Amino acid sequence: MKKFKAITVDENGYGIKNLSIDDLSAGNVLIKVMYSSLNYKDMLAVQPNGGVIRSYPMIPGIDLSGIVVESDDIRFEIGDEVLVTGFKVGMSHTGGLSEYARIPADWIIKLPSGMSMKQSMMIGTAGFTSGLSVEKLLANGMSVKDDPQVLVTGSTGGVGSVAVQILLKMGFNHINSLVRKDYQSKIAMRLGAANVVDSRNIQISGKPLEKQRFDFVLDTVGGNVASELLPQICYGGSMTMCGNAGGISLNTTVLPFILRGINILGIDSVSYPIEKRSVIWNRFVDEWNIFENIKYNEVNLDNVPQVIEQLRQGKHVGRTIVKISEKI
Ligand SMILES: NC(=O)c1ccc[n+]([C@@H]2O[C@H](COP(=O)([O-])OP(=O)(O)OC[C@H]3O[C@@H](n4cnc5c(N)ncnc54)[C@H](OP(=O)(O)O)[C@@H]3O)[C@@H](O)[C@H]2O)c1
Repeated sequence: MKKFKAITVDENGYGIKNLSIDDLSAGNVLIKVMYSSLNYKDMLAVQPNGGVIRSYPMIPGIDLSGIVVESDDIRFEIGDEVLVTGFKVGMSHTGGLSEYARIPADWIIKLPSGMSMKQSMMIGTAGFTSGLSVEKLLANGMSVKDDPQVLVTGSTGGVGSVAVQILLKMGFNHINSLVRKDYQSKIAMRLGAANVVDSRNIQISGKPLEKQRFDFVLDTVGGNVASELLPQICYGGSMTMCGNAGGISLNTTVLPFILRGINILGIDSVSYPIEKRSVIWNRFVDEWNIFENIKYNEVNLDNVPQVIEQLRQGKHVGRTIVKISEKI
């Protein structure tokens, strides 16, 4: 097979290189990659000491969709349209920012019927994580019929913006979007928030319990933001936590838990069991069909560094998909 293009990262930086199939990590399914997407973690992956990639050189890209071109596994045939997110892809296993990817069959799912390869990357890891977060809140009592106050943090980012669209599609009326910059307020309103909360205004008195404002919180930021929200969650409410864009520490007291019975619900998309993944992905074809409303931008491999910079500088909005190949 002739050489193909991929982004590679090493100790000195990252850029596009011509590679051969032997440069790919081992796996029993070879995929011609059609689309990838850019997530916060992909930005970290290409930073020096970003903590995502542990051995160089590596092809980054935690997401990909494409067409099977070789398979040693009976579950996948040549021509199948497939989707991969998470596991070790783009971290210690060569990833999706490449015209080809060789992936263990246990990490691959077939594209849901009715979803295109492009649409799957409009969702990507970020949207899949939004879906997992919404699902967890629903399992913990969030229901349209109760008309709850729901707060989404990092609401103009990848995870947050998709989460807002899912909640809107489900019929939640009181979606509060937390932002931290003035220009993000307009974007949050355009995305459909009923109310915008400025993160500079959520610190009230520093007391362990505050006025109860939000029934459910879908948090993507962590750090001080999550710490300041816990005392404002209503009796019996819950907060999902998936991210650390605002820091990894969490300062709290036991009082919101023992006096208001609130829950913190952890979300992990990376190792989420493969056999349960299709349930979430299929929802995006049916009751969470938000493709018309997802705010996304499409680039090619050459433009990846610009988007990585936007993600690094906190200037990125919504989702970015990367068109990798035109055809097989
Ligand atoms: N657990 C999982 O499986 C999983 C999966 C996917 C993502 N994640 C994590 O989820 C987080 C969000 O990912 P993403 O793809 O949505 O990233 P993103 O597109 O960069 O969005 C992050 C959002 O958080 C906001 N933000 C960052 N720091 C903040 C702070 N101190 N106060 C208030 N808002 C702040 C950003 O605002 P600015 O634009 O102003 O910076 C942006 O709106 C990341 O930490 C990512 O690693 C986890």
